[in-house]
Amino acid sequence: MTYDLTGRTAVVTGASSGIGAATARALAAAGGRVAVLARRVERIESLAKEIDGLAVPADVTDPESIATAAAAIRTELGRPDLVVANAGVMNGAPFATAEPREWSAMVDTNLTGLIHTGRAFVDDLLAAAADGGPADLVHVGSIASHEVFPGYAVYAATKAGVAALTRGLRRELGPRGVRVRAVEPGLTESELGETMLDAEGRAALEQIRREVGPIPASDVADTICWSAAAPARLNVAQLIVLPTTQG
Ligand SMILES: NC(=O)c1ccc[n+]([C@@H]2O[C@H](COP(=O)([O-])OP(=O)(O)OC[C@H]3O[C@@H](n4cnc5c(N)ncnc54)[C@H](OP(=O)(O)O)[C@@H]3O)[C@@H](O)[C@H]2O)c1
Repeated sequence: MTYDLTGRTAVVTGASSGIGAATARALAAAGGRVAVLARRVERIESLAKEIDGLAVPADVTDPESIATAAAAIRTELGRPDLVVANAGVMNGAPFATAEPREWSAMVDTNLTGLIHTGRAFVDDLLAAAADGGPADLVHVGSIASHEVFPGYAVYAATKAGVAALTRGLRRELGPRGVRVRAVEPGLTESELGETMLDAEGRAALEQIRREVGPIPASDVADTICWSAAAPARLNVAQLIVLPTTQG
């Protein structure tokens, strides 16, 4: 895919691995200035060095942390006009035996984290739109908001929440010029699920990945960048991106 994001100032949460890291690399390669956010500081510092970006440690579950990060980005890079709210965790386990703290981590990160992220940058996006430029708030959801797998009811619920949040914010912010979009991946190469507590769930996930063959994270990154490079009048509002073999 070809796209040009010269002049854009981008923020990517969950940029220390997987889809977020690939998106940061693609945004930078397309000419954007990029701030990379996550909790693992060494990872984001190394990535920022590689792409000549800005590493900003942040925990999206903490509104103060993300607001502080937003202020640092404004000072160092200028006003963001492209925010990729991507940070997420996935823990699968049978509902009857799952650890409640794994549910809380998913709700706090995948849904509440996106809400805090949107709030921290909404004024920047509205200002960018008012100045006539494109302004994008990209939510990384999941195909799990459409197709639910046993053991993943809570993960799916968070991603269905992301889909609803996206539609709601689109109604609110679209008329003011901000493009709000959901990019919903299927099986993608990343570290997702590696730390889930349920050993059988980890093994089952590995098997599905072996059988289906995930797409590289750079494929998802390309769709995020391509949709952001569309003319400001056009919002590619929802994208399901998955391996062809996932069906
Ligand atoms: N891979 C797939 O098959 C797939 C499919 C559908 C949807 N997705 C979605 O894609 C997104 C990215 O996941 P991925 O697949 O790239 O997995 P990943 O490699 O595990 O990346 C997850 C990222 O989220 C960050 N993160 C987690 N909790 C955070 C917090 N509290 N504050 C800030 N950052 C946090 C992690 O960084 P730190 O740990 O350093 O904070 C990491 O950079 C997620 O929303 C996921 O649900 C992935």
